[in-house]
Amino acid sequence: MSRVLVTSALPYANGPIHFGHIVGAYLPADIYVRFRRMLGDDVHYVCGTDEHGVAITLRAEQQGTGYAEYVDHWHGIIAKSLSDVGIEFDVFTGTAHHRNPYHRELAQQFFRDLDANGYLFERTEEQFYSESTGRFLPDRYVQGICYLCGYEKARGDECPSCGKYLEAKLLKEPRSTLDGSKPVLRATTHWYLDLAKIRDEWLGEWFESKRGTWKPNVENFVRSDLKDLRERPITRDLPWGVPVPVEGADGKVLYVWFDAPIGYMSISRQHWESVGAPERFEEFWRSPDTELYHFIGKDNITFHTVVFPSILWGSKRDWTLPSNVPANEFFNLEGRKFNTSTGWYIPEDALRGVVPVDALRYALCTMMPETADSEWTWDGFQSRVNDELADNLGNFVSRTLRFVEKFFDGVIPALGDLSDADRAALEAARQASQTMKECLGTFQFRRAGATLMGLGNVANRYYDAEQPWVTVKDDATRSRSGQSMRICVELIDALATLAAPIMPSTARTLRTAIGRDPEAFRFDRVGVVDDSDSHAGAPLSAALPKFTDPKGHEKTALFRKLSNEFIAEQKQRLEESAMESTTPPHEPLADSIDFDQFTAIDVRVGTVIAAEKHPKADRLLVVQVDLGFERRTVVAGIAASYAPEDLVGRRVNVVANLAPRKLRGVESQGMLLAADGADGKPRLLSADSDVPDGTRVR
Ligand code: MF3
Ligand code: ZN
Repeated sequence: MSRVLVTSALPYANGPIHFGHIVGAYLPADIYVRFRRMLGDDVHYVCGTDEHGVAITLRAEQQGTGYAEYVDHWHGIIAKSLSDVGIEFDVFTGTAHHRNPYHRELAQQFFRDLDANGYLFERTEEQFYSESTGRFLPDRYVQGICYLCGYEKARGDECPSCGKYLEAKLLKEPRSTLDGSKPVLRATTHWYLDLAKIRDEWLGEWFESKRGTWKPNVENFVRSDLKDLRERPITRDLPWGVPVPVEGADGKVLYVWFDAPIGYMSISRQHWESVGAPERFEEFWRSPDTELYHFIGKDNITFHTVVFPSILWGSKRDWTLPSNVPANEFFNLEGRKFNTSTGWYIPEDALRGVVPVDALRYALCTMMPETADSEWTWDGFQSRVNDELADNLGNFVSRTLRFVEKFFDGVIPALGDLSDADRAALEAARQASQTMKECLGTFQFRRAGATLMGLGNVANRYYDAEQPWVTVKDDATRSRSGQSMRICVELIDALATLAAPIMPSTARTLRTAIGRDPEAFRFDRVGVVDDSDSHAGAPLSAALPKFTDPKGHEKTALFRKLSNEFIAEQKQRLEESAMESTTPPHEPLADSIDFDQFTAIDVRVGTVIAAEKHPKADRLLVVQVDLGFERRTVVAGIAASYAPEDLVGRRVNVVANLAPRKLRGVESQGMLLAADGADGKPRLLSADSDVPDGTRVR
C-alpha cells in the first residue's frame, strides 16, 4: 500500500469554471484518485478555491462587494460545478482566512523560513501608483503608447500589437485602465525569491533526476524555463491577501502565486485537524515515501514544477516534493478558446437531464489534451455517446441482460466447461485490465477510455459469434447458450471494473444489474472465474435506467442516444450566445421618430469666437458662436474637457432653433452638439473646415 497525495489546481474564486478546467485539472485527478483507491492505496485528494490576488481584489471593489463576500459567492458556485461532474475531493475549502484559519500562518511560515535560509532579498523600485485610488497599479492595469511599435493601447506588461514584453515604466502617456487617470511613479519595497540560487543549489539536479518520468510536454516546458530563471517578486501592495510577516510591511501581502500552492497544504491541515487526526497532515506532507501528484493545466506548469518545489525545498523542513506533475495542454471549444465573457462556452445546464454525468466524463476523458491541445466538438461528443457508449457498451449490456431475463429466468447460469472462444474472451478481459492499470498509472487517460471501448468491442463480437439466439432454441445446445451468457455476464463485470474510475456511477449500476457488490472493484479479479463459482444462480436485478422514448414507450438503457436535433441546437446556441456578447454595452436606442420630427430640429455650423467660465457653475462655459448670419450666446456643460481659451476658432454644431433658456442666470440661445468620450467627459463634434458658418446640418 502506498501513500498518495493528489491535488487539483485551486480554481480562482473569480468566475465560473468550464469544461476546459474540468478536463485539464479535475477529471484526470478524480479518475486517478479512484484508480489508486481501487489498488488499495492510502489516497488523500485536496482542493479548494484560490481566493487572493489583484484580479479578485479589484473585481470585488468594482462591484462594491466585500472581499470575503465576493470569494464566498464564487466558492459556492465552483464547488457545486465540480460536484455536479462527480469530482469527489476529501476536502474542498480555500485560502481565504475566514474559510481556512491555517492558511495565513502556514504561508507566513514559508516566507520566514525562506528568508532565514537566505533565499529572499528585498529590493526597492519605482512603480506606478494611482493617486485617484490610493493604490499601486499592477503593470497590466496600466495602458499607454508602446515604446517599441507606437501602438496606442499597449498594456504595462505586454503589447498586444507587437507582442513584446514591456517595461511598464517606459510606456508613453501611461493611464490607469481602471479610471483613466494618470499614474505617478513611487518607490516601493518588495521581496524576491532567488530562484536562480535555488536552481544552482538543488532544483536543476532534482529536475534531472526526474528525466524521462514526466510527460514530455511538461519536461520540455520546464527545461526551457530553467535556462532563463530569474528572481521573482513574491509580495504585492494590496489590501487583500496574506499579510507579509515583516514589521513595517503594512499594506503588503504575499503574491497570490506564492500563497496559493501552500493552500494545498493548509487545506489538507484543516481537513486533518477537523477530523481529529492532525498527525495525518505530517504523514502526507512531510515524508519521502508520499507520492505527490499535482494535476494542473498548461498555464500553471512553471509554478508547480519550479516555483512551488523551490518554496518547499528552500524552507528546509523536509516537506514532501512532487513525484509528478501531469499537466495537460489547452482544451478548446469548436476551434476557439473557451471564454465565458465572450459567450464561447457551454452553459452549465446544457447537458442536464439529457445525458448522465458519466457520459460527459467518458467523453472528456477521451478528448483530454494530454500531450497536445485538443477540443470539444458537439459532433465528437455525439459520436462518443451514440457510437461508443450506447451502441457499443450499452448495447452489449442490454442484450445480455434481456437474454438472461427472457431465456434463463433472470438467473445467472452456472459456469460450465470453457470453450476456446470463452477462454479467449476472458483472456481479452484480463489483458484489458492490465492495459487499463498501465494507462491510468501513467496518466494516459485517452488510452484508458479506448481500452474500455476495446473490451466492449470484444464483448459484442463474442456475443455475435456465439449466436445464443440460435443455440437456445435446441435442447442439445441450450446449455451452450447458457454458458455464452455466463461469459457475457463476466464481461459485464470486467467492463464495470474498467469503467469504475472513469464512470463510477455506471460501474455501480452494472455491478448491481448482475447482482454483485456495487462497491468492490478489483482489477485482479477481471476475467478470472474461480472453481467455486459463487455467482451461479444469482438473480439479475432490473437496475438499468428507465426513460420514455419520443414515441412515449418506456425503455431501459445504459445510455440514451443524442438526437441530431439536440446537437444542432447546441451548436446554434453557442453561435447565438457568442453573437450576443460581442455586442458591446450601449445606451438603448430611443423610440423611433419620423422624418418630419427630424427636420424639425435646425442644426447650424458655426465657429467659436469667444468663451469664458460661467460665473456660477464650474461645469459650464459661456460660449460666443458666429453662425455667419448672426451671433449666439450658448451655455455648454463642457468645462470638464475644454479650457475657454482652447475653444476660440473651433468649429461647432449648434441646435439653433431651441427655445432660449436661462442656465444658472445666463441665457443660452442654443445647444452645442457633443458626445461623451471614453472617460465620460463631453467632446464637441465639429464640421470640416470648408463648411461655411450658418450651413444647415442634414
Ligand atoms: N488559481 C490558479 C488558476 O486558476 C491555479 C492555482 S493552483 C495553486 O490558474 F496551486 F497555486 F493553487
Ligand atoms: Zn508594441
